[in-house]
Formats: sequence, structure tokens, C-alpha cells
Amino acid sequence: MGTPISVLVKRVERLNPKVVRVTLDPGPHRGLWSFVPGGFLTFCLPFQQHGYDLRVGQHSQAPSPDVLHRSYSLVQGPQDDLPQILVKETQAGLGSRFINRQFTEGMKLMAYPPKGRLFPESWNEDDFHFVLFAAGTGITPLYSILQHVIDAREGNRVTLFFGNTGLKDILLKDELEAWASHPRVTIKHLLTDGSIDDPLYAGRMDATKVPLLWNTLLSDLPKRVLISGPKGMRDAVLGTLLSLDVEPSHIRGEDFHHPPHLDSPELKTCEVIAETPSGTIHMTYDPREEDLLEALLDRGHDVPSSCRGGVCANCRAEILEGEVAVDNSYALTEEERTKGWVLCCQSRPLSDKLHLQFKADR
Ligand code: FES
Repeated sequence: MGTPISVLVKRVERLNPKVVRVTLDPGPHRGLWSFVPGGFLTFCLPFQQHGYDLRVGQHSQAPSPDVLHRSYSLVQGPQDDLPQILVKETQAGLGSRFINRQFTEGMKLMAYPPKGRLFPESWNEDDFHFVLFAAGTGITPLYSILQHVIDAREGNRVTLFFGNTGLKDILLKDELEAWASHPRVTIKHLLTDGSIDDPLYAGRMDATKVPLLWNTLLSDLPKRVLISGPKGMRDAVLGTLLSLDVEPSHIRGEDFHHPPHLDSPELKTCEVIAETPSGTIHMTYDPREEDLLEALLDRGHDVPSSCRGGVCANCRAEILEGEVAVDNSYALTEEERTKGWVLCCQSRPLSDKLHLQFKADR
């Protein structure tokens, strides 16, 4: 994961009762803060220092750690000087609650500089029509990518389909309005509150709507697709595009929500052997209670991880023996998926014995 650096919280703006925009200043470390299209940073959130009870409402009885690592998408474009994130407070999101309630201007904390696997390097090598499907706060990494692809190649174009409840819920509304006048950018809002008359853009991005939206894309350029939003929306868009014969390797997706617990397996105990860069871990735990990564971290094991939300892929692992139920594996490459790797933060054992090997360096 590299080395964390000190960053200053330069500005905290409340965009609505649940979402803040935070501008950061890496100060003398700016040289280490390079732009990554659709990238994310990882905060070391100092819970204990702020006397914050991070286990409120949580199932685990484990003691609170001093610092919790949480990752957030950057809305930063290639021309932006200072990194920004938008963070929506969610009930289950300890980090999002901490940022929404405790972040103040002038506060300093440690953060790992941007990383990201959402936007493949090879997508910089030709002109493409990028089709972005976003919903809610899922816009953040896609807004960064929109700026990047328009800036990177004059032949690129972008169509963004952005789903929200109503007009007032649209994040980055002013910025998107400015981009909508760009000759190579098309932005289409879908709203579910009944305020749009056109049936194509009224309602959710579901299996009925996505083929109709897809048919509005008229350019001859090869298409590349990015999806970011809640699980139901991602599944609907992905499933529909696959049924339309869109090549899976031309689709990338991201989920920044820490998943609610995966469907509980019946299994009451699982014996886990986990090979990590710092040694082999043996543990037995109840898979009904926690996902695999949570179980390892809660027991104090030092395993590669960062976001705990299926984004950074630091927790990627090969299953050598046994079976797991996987909630999502968007952050893995097609090749890694084909090899049967999984994200441990998105996985729960389905067999009473599990042997896995972490693939990322610490
Ligand atoms: S910890 Fe980031 S994907 Fe699992």
C-alpha cells in the first residue's frame, strides 16, 4: 500500500444533509500525490484520538482500533490542483460517519496517496466512446474519468447516464452542467421522482431501460463502459450489457459502498489457513458473523487490505482449497477473475475448510 503521508483538510463543504465535499492539501508531499483516473485515496482515520465510538451499532465485540483505514474515490481531474472527495454518510459506514461529523478545516491526518484499478491503462491507447453509468455517489470516480478521457485524447467522447431520485440529489450538478456543453460530452440524467416527462429518462436504470439507453449511442467509435453505483443498479446494468453481447473485458465497475453482510451461509464454523506476505495464519471463525477479511483483521492479523469495500483489490487472494460466496469482484481484472481469485472483503466461506493465498504485497 506504500507509505502514508500527512494531508491537511483544507475545506469541508456540506452539499446536502448527508454528503460533504472535502478538499485536501498534501502540502510538501504534493509530488507524491499523482493523478490516477478514477483513483481513490485511503485515509488512516484516527478514531481513538477523537474519542469516537466506532463500534456503535456494529456486531463485533472486538476492541476499537486506534486507526481505521477507509478508501474514498477522488473526484479530482488531471487539471485539478488539490484532491477532493465526496463522502456520503451511511448508517453502516463508520468512516463516512466520522468524516461527515468530525472532519474540520485545518485538521491533519495521514493518508495513502491515490491508487486505482478502475480505469485500465490500455484504454488510453486508442480513441473510444466511453459510456458511463452512474447512480448517486457513484458519480465520483466516473467524474474523474470523464475529465481524464476528454483531456487525454481528442478523439475520445463520453456519454454519462446518471441516475438520481430528484434534481436536488444530483451531486456535482454545476460541474456536470458545465461539461454538458462540451462538444464531445453528452450527459443524460435519469430521475425516479416523476419530474421527467420523457419515459426514457424517467425511472431507474433497470433491465428494461438499459437497452433503450444503449440504443441512443450513435457514434462508430468502439465503446468502453464504466459502471458505478449501488449493487442493484450495477447488477442490472452489467447483466443487461452482457445480454446485449457487450464484451466483458470492455466493462469495468466500482462499488464504493461497504456491502451489507452477504447472504448468510448455513455454515457455523470454518477453519481458515491464510498465506500472507508476512506468514501463515490459522484461524477458526463463524462465517455467519463476518466476511473473511473482517474476521482476519478483527483478530489482529496483518493482511493486505485497504478499503474493505471491494474497490482497492489489495485483499485479492487465490482460493487454494474450499469454496467462498462472493458478493462482487469488480476490482479484479478479467485475468484475475479467470484464475479464480477473489476479494476477501467480499467473500464468505461456503466450506468448513478454506485455504487461501493473498496476492498483494502488504
Ligand atoms: S480491501 Fe479493498 S477490495 Fe478488499
